[in-house]
Amino acid sequence: MSGSPEVSRALVLERFGELPRLVTRPVPDRPPGHTLVRVRAAQVGHLDLNVVDGEFGVLPDLPAVPGTEAAGVVVASDVHPEGTAVRIRGGGAGLSRDGGWAEHAVVRDTAVVPVPPGTDPALACCFFSPAGTAQAAVHTVAAIRPGERVAVTGAAGAVGALTVQLAARAGAEVIGVVGRPAKLASVPPPAKPVLASELTEDTAGGPLDAVIDTVGGAVLATALGLVRGRGRAALVGYTAGRELRLDLADFLLADVSLLPVNLMTRGAEVAADADRLLAELNAGELTLPIERYPFDRLDEAAGRLRGGEAVGKVALEID
Ligand SMILES: NC(=O)c1ccc[n+]([C@@H]2O[C@H](COP(=O)([O-])OP(=O)(O)OC[C@H]3O[C@@H](n4cnc5c(N)ncnc54)[C@H](OP(=O)(O)O)[C@@H]3O)[C@@H](O)[C@H]2O)c1
Repeated sequence: MSGSPEVSRALVLERFGELPRLVTRPVPDRPPGHTLVRVRAAQVGHLDLNVVDGEFGVLPDLPAVPGTEAAGVVVASDVHPEGTAVRIRGGGAGLSRDGGWAEHAVVRDTAVVPVPPGTDPALACCFFSPAGTAQAAVHTVAAIRPGERVAVTGAAGAVGALTVQLAARAGAEVIGVVGRPAKLASVPPPAKPVLASELTEDTAGGPLDAVIDTVGGAVLATALGLVRGRGRAALVGYTAGRELRLDLADFLLADVSLLPVNLMTRGAEVAADADRLLAELNAGELTLPIERYPFDRLDEAAGRLRGGEAVGKVALEID
């Protein structure tokens, strides 16, 4: 670690329910089997805020550094060459042990994955979940075919925006559904943007062959009612509500398959596709919206995410 600073900044969570505090601390020690990363960007995600609020099934002992996904450069490791551009995900980082909301993060070697040199760190720490989930939703679970009419809810969100683009590439006519007027302009082309409160068979252009729902709650109930018999509804997220009331007689009559998309069970099978999608994101052939905030503006970043105002992913950039 010669030439490395001895102190380093980190966002330290001292009490669940309060935002972490930016503190200066020694650069953490690296035990065997671990890699020290100089973090350049860290995602602020719904999962991270659940941890901060003490409302996730796996929680760290406090004080702790949250941050389940980050990206940066290897400083010291037994397996990853120094200077390698990497992303951090898994191995308990940001959950059961310190994560990536820090200038220097020590994580398990297995939680460190190389990314192509020159990759934008904010993109590197944000792409995997939306890319993998969109890939699984469009190609594996909903199995979108050319010529189908597909509604994507939360279409200005991270998963939604990529799902729109992949469904359109698969040859579908895509309706991009958003919850608030300010987001209509953020629905990626070529989808037709529609406000959730105005979603009908008319505004959708006819019955849907499939819906890919990243929002849940009332939006899913509305969209389900527009899917044709033998159509599919793929459920990705439930930020807007985790309950769906089903009349079983109507459900049988409608004959629409309701299918869960779970990246945790499909991560390995979409990993290669996600890396291919990263290359396309890097090349500008696909877009993933990311809101960027300085390291000392976690309050603003978290507020935008909690309020549902953020467009796409939210990342802290750590100079
Ligand atoms: N199943 C899986 O394996 C998997 C994988 C990745 C992500 N997810 C989940 O999928 C969902 C979408 O992920 P994402 O990364 O695309 O999130 P995101 O970028 O934050 O998008 C979520 C969308 O939900 C809508 N929304 C409705 N009510 C909201 C509220 N109260 N607070 C915040 N947003 C609200 C917003 O769209 P409007 O304003 O247009 O309504 C927002 O754009 C999340 O729930 C996430 O946890 C699931």
